[in-house]
Amino acid sequence: MYLTHEEEKILNGERGATYQKAIEILVALGDIYDADRLIPIKSAQIAGVSYKTIGDAGLEWISDLKGKVAVPSILNPAGMDLECWREMGISQEFAKKQKEIIKAYKALGVQIECSCTPYNIYDDLASIGDHLAWSESSAISYANSVIGARTNREGGPGALSAALIGKTANYGFHLDENRKPDLLIQVDSKLSDSDYGALGYIAGEMVGDKVPFFRLKSRPSKDELKSLGAAMAASGAVALYHVEGVTPEAGQYDAPRDAITIEERQIKEVYESAYLNIGPGKPDLIAFGCPHSSPDELASLAHLLDGKKVKKEVWVCTSRAIKDRNPELVKRIEKSGAKVFCDTCMVVSPASERFKCMMVNSGKAHKYVPNLCGVKSILASTEKCIEEALKE
Ligand code: F3S
Repeated sequence: MYLTHEEEKILNGERGATYQKAIEILVALGDIYDADRLIPIKSAQIAGVSYKTIGDAGLEWISDLKGKVAVPSILNPAGMDLECWREMGISQEFAKKQKEIIKAYKALGVQIECSCTPYNIYDDLASIGDHLAWSESSAISYANSVIGARTNREGGPGALSAALIGKTANYGFHLDENRKPDLLIQVDSKLSDSDYGALGYIAGEMVGDKVPFFRLKSRPSKDELKSLGAAMAASGAVALYHVEGVTPEAGQYDAPRDAITIEERQIKEVYESAYLNIGPGKPDLIAFGCPHSSPDELASLAHLLDGKKVKKEVWVCTSRAIKDRNPELVKRIEKSGAKVFCDTCMVVSPASERFKCMMVNSGKAHKYVPNLCGVKSILASTEKCIEEALKE
């Protein structure tokens, strides 16, 4: 891989051990994937934040780094609401470690906004054609597909290294030739709300890491695209998809010849199979906000909850910026007894592990909750989730 004179100096340790390690990681990735050079990035989104996921080894690694990030960098959700962690049922011991992780990232100049939807917080992190180093799979999918920016599925250390150097290796989805669709997916029914998560759940399993091109009968909103991409990135490894007539790069390509059709029956089965698998019993936690709720999603929940009292534990996960910018919506949701948590989510926080069965409106959460939290999961529409929350 070609390195500039300046990059060579960093590799030789002239800026210290942290930058040397960071560029070594980028060069190693570049060598593996046959990159020709390093390219500048506009922003980084760094995973490896929850103490539940990275533990003491991760904390030690981040704490040992000395330097500052070179581009705007934001964190993935942590293992707890950084302010209301007691209300989540988080232990003192966990909270202490989690705060140390946040402090270590802050010392590196990373913005302490812990969210998987950074594009809903800052307008200037990613635009069409920008190169990025993002590492949360749903954010990657949204950046590539809905914004038309360019990022690979970076691991936490790769994204942090890219943030420190301000560059990433030029391979994969940074290159035009890897952004072409390879499979047409036609959907034979109209979809709305959680149907897009159910579609993503099926499609991800079918396509793995290919680039699907969707031909849909309904026009998805940005939140529905967020949900589709998140589920596909969880059940498969989809980092980029196109939707005919909707996403920014779809018009550049002809629909691929290889095609499959997903039928309404298959979408319904995703909802029903969840009920069949869990057997008798009912959800004891209803959780929204995977990926983190947008202002429109908060408004829809506030509308459904107005004048009502929830009888079950209800969590709405979002970013702190979105919570702070929408105090009236948050007030209406919390008046019902539902809790709005920031900086974290139902999957990466250990707080959800005390429940037996979670009902979610997210295909991604439905995929991850059983495996990562040891909690049964039911997928349902937003309205059905609220109906369940209101029952004894
Ligand atoms: Fe975000 Fe957590 Fe879902 S990080 S995409 S809310 S699993």
